[in-house]
Amino acid sequence: MGTGLIAGILPRINEADGCVVAGVASRDRDRARAFSEKHGVDPAGACTYEELVERDDIDAVYVAIPNHLHVEWCERLLEAGKHVLCEKPLALSAAEAERACDAAERAGRVLAEGFMFMHHAQTDRLAEIARAGETPGSIIGNLLMIEADRCADLRHGPTVNTRFSHAMQGGAMSDLGCYPLAIASWITGRHAVSGRGVARITKPLAGETRGVDGSMAFAVELEGGVLVSGVCSIESDEPRAVFRLIGTWGEVSTGWAWSPDPERAEVRWRRYAAHPQGEGEGVIAVEHAGDKIVNQFARFAAAVRGEMPPAPDHGWMIGHARTMELVYESAGMAW
Ligand SMILES: NC(=O)c1ccc[n+]([C@@H]2O[C@H](COP(=O)([O-])OP(=O)(O)OC[C@H]3O[C@@H](n4cnc5c(N)ncnc54)[C@H](OP(=O)(O)O)[C@@H]3O)[C@@H](O)[C@H]2O)c1
Repeated sequence: MGTGLIAGILPRINEADGCVVAGVASRDRDRARAFSEKHGVDPAGACTYEELVERDDIDAVYVAIPNHLHVEWCERLLEAGKHVLCEKPLALSAAEAERACDAAERAGRVLAEGFMFMHHAQTDRLAEIARAGETPGSIIGNLLMIEADRCADLRHGPTVNTRFSHAMQGGAMSDLGCYPLAIASWITGRHAVSGRGVARITKPLAGETRGVDGSMAFAVELEGGVLVSGVCSIESDEPRAVFRLIGTWGEVSTGWAWSPDPERAEVRWRRYAAHPQGEGEGVIAVEHAGDKIVNQFARFAAAVRGEMPPAPDHGWMIGHARTMELVYESAGMAW
């Protein structure tokens, strides 16, 4: 659903075990047809959003439309009996995420939020490291802090009208900052107990009265006292991706926390003098983990078949939305 930037991953969906793309939906049926042809999908399956809701030849919908439409369309699709994989962010407040999850529960259908990094073995490795504590074999000891930045220059190009639109829930946090916050809670299994954000607000787009957070600095305390801090930006000349776990005994880092290489992902580690084995450094290689996009759709299909629980689950999605809500509120923003 949607024919924008991210919907271009469509051919990868067909590569995922248990997935066959049966059609493309657009606000404009001709655009759906052209997009289908471009990506090797039968144009006979092209339809409008309204027609999509009525179709009985499909099991599931990948929702790839602007943020402000996610919950509304998830609800409609779930109520019509479709399973839904919704692009991130599912929602920017806990109440809205709950609304979508309640619809999934009422309908008895799967609803999952599309964070691809969750479907790569590097993320599993980071979770083991984050949770090991001061046990034999641990690299970092007790996790104290997570440093995570994600910045890009999105001031030009085809998505500028969605990314910089307040009405469409654009901005640095919803587009990029959600990744640092999501990976922090995913690998630790902990959600925020408090959060702060400081935003630099952009000039409103023509026809709008409010700008978005072009850049934001955030600081969050997770359950158990782990601190997460970082910056995110959609107006940064230099792309920036930083991810570091800092513990009592050492630290690990990777610039590719959200886009790990399918063939060989690397995490650098460093032991401090306080480590029982003394100082040291090296690299952990995670090989042949596969493409996170393909893995994500295969996992979603397995959840639809009832073979595995969906990832993420409802509790995580609501908790993550609450974290972003805390940060937004303290930055003087609310949606
Ligand atoms: N997981 C990732 O790595 C990743 C990467 C990029 C984006 N995303 C997420 O995916 C979603 C879509 O992002 P995108 O970059 O694909 O966005 P986009 O290119 O700006 O637009 C997506 C599509 O949404 C449809 N749409 C429906 N109502 C619209 C409206 N009122 N205004 C504009 N477009 C509308 C349009 O398709 P039709 O006109 O054909 O209906 C449009 O092409 C967002 O939630 C974003 O956060 C995720």
